[in-house]
Amino acid sequence: MRVVHVAAEVFPFSRSGGLGDVLGILPEVLAGQGAQATVVSPWYGSLNGQPTEIWRGTFPELTVGPTPIYDVRLGEIIQNGVQYLFIGLPEFDRPGLYFDDDVYRFCLFGRAVLSVLGAVGVRPDVIHGHDWQSGLVVAYAHLAGLKTVFSVHNLQYQGRWNMEDAARWTALPDWTLGADALEYHGDLNLMKAGLVFADAVTTVSPTYAQEITTPEYGEGLQGLLVRLTVEHRLSGILNGLDQERWDPRTDPDVPQYSDPAGKAAATALLREEFELDDAPILGVVSRLADQKGIDLLIEALPELTKDWNVVVLGGGDPLLVAALSGWAQHPRVAFVGGLNEPLAHRIYAGSDIFAMPSRFEPCGLSQMISMRYGTLPVVRLTGGLVDTVPADIGFRFADATPAALSAACAEARAEFDRPEQWQARMERGMGLDFSWQGPAQQYLALYQKLGR
Ligand code: GLC
Repeated sequence: MRVVHVAAEVFPFSRSGGLGDVLGILPEVLAGQGAQATVVSPWYGSLNGQPTEIWRGTFPELTVGPTPIYDVRLGEIIQNGVQYLFIGLPEFDRPGLYFDDDVYRFCLFGRAVLSVLGAVGVRPDVIHGHDWQSGLVVAYAHLAGLKTVFSVHNLQYQGRWNMEDAARWTALPDWTLGADALEYHGDLNLMKAGLVFADAVTTVSPTYAQEITTPEYGEGLQGLLVRLTVEHRLSGILNGLDQERWDPRTDPDVPQYSDPAGKAAATALLREEFELDDAPILGVVSRLADQKGIDLLIEALPELTKDWNVVVLGGGDPLLVAALSGWAQHPRVAFVGGLNEPLAHRIYAGSDIFAMPSRFEPCGLSQMISMRYGTLPVVRLTGGLVDTVPADIGFRFADATPAALSAACAEARAEFDRPEQWQARMERGMGLDFSWQGPAQQYLALYQKLGR
C-alpha cells in the first residue's frame, strides 16, 4: 500500500501550526505499520532542511499565469522510513509559508504534483490530501482514477478566489466548476474541491466531524458536509501526539521529570526566566487567531492576573500581538511573539495550567502536550477538546466569553489550593496515552476499504 500525503506543511521542514505537526508524524507511523509513505510538500525558500535534488524538468503545459512553470525541481529527504518530496517552483522560493497569492501558488503546486510523481515513478495507491492547499490535487487524482482521502484540519481557510482567474489556474474541465463541485458563491473554492472529489473525507476529531455539519461550525459548507455524512463519506479520526517529541522524561529543553513532583524545577525556571512572582502560572502557546479565542483571554486578563502569572507565546494577528505586547508591561504578564520551539517546551513544562479558549478546535494538540507534561488544561468544550480533555483532569467551559474562561480558571485556582486533588489530576494527565498507533490503523483501514 503506497500512500502519498500532500500538504502545505510538514514538521520539521516547514510548520506554522498543528497541520505541520500531524504531517511530521502520521506518515512515519503509517510506515511503521507497513505502508509505503510519501509526503509531497512545497520546497519553500525557508525550508528547514536540505533536500537532495533528484529530478528537474519543465512542464510548459502547466503555464497558467504570469510566470510559466518552467524548471520544476524535485528534492527528496528520506527519514525514518518516509520519503519526503519537495516540489520547487519559483513562486515558493521566498522566506515564509503563506502569502496573499496562495490560491494561485497552490494551483501551480497542485497541478505539478501528479506530473512530478509520474516523472519519478511514484505510483500511489491512495492520494491523501490535507486542507485546502491540496484540494486541487485530490480533484486531479480523482479524475485520474486514483483513490483519494481528504482530511480537514481547519474548515475556516478554504482557498477561495474569483472564478475567472481560478478556472484558468486550475485548468480543470468546465463541468467541475459548477455549484455542485468547485463553485461557491461565485468563487472557486479549493476546500470544496477536496470535499467533493475525495472518496473519503476525514476530520481530526469525532466531535468536529459532527460540529461541521451545523451552521455554527460549517463555515458555509455544512450542507455539503451533511450530505457527506449521510453518504458515510465523512468521519472523524482523532489525532495522536508525537509522544517522543513531547516527553517530559527525555525533553532536552526542560529539566526532565517523570512525575508531578519533578515538574517543580521546570516551573521554577520558567518563573525565573520571566521574573514572575509566586502566583501559579497560566501558559498559552498558540497561533494568535480569532479561532483560538485569544481576544477572550486578553479581555479576561484583568481577572486572570489576580490569581495567575500569564505567559503567552505565539504569532499571528497584529491586533492581538499589539494588545499582548501592551499587557506585557504588567508584572504578571509575559508575552513572546512568533514561533519558538524550545520556549514552547519550557512553557508546556513550567506552567501550572494551560488555557485554550478556542471558538472552534478541529483537534488541538496543545492540550494533549500539556496533560503529558502535568499541566492542567483549561479548555472551551468544542471539537477535539471535548474528545481529549477528561473532566477529572482539565477544567472545561461552554461559552466563548471572557467570563466563562475566568470562571473556569477560578475553579482551577480553587483546586490548585487542594494539593492532593491537584496532584491526582496531574498524575491522570501524565498517564494518558495519545499514541498515533490507533489513529494510523484507522487511516490504514480506511485506505484498504477504498482499495477494494
Ligand atoms: C489545525 C487545527 C487544530 C488541529 C491541527 C492538526 O491547526 O486548528 O485544531 O489540531 O490542525 O490537525
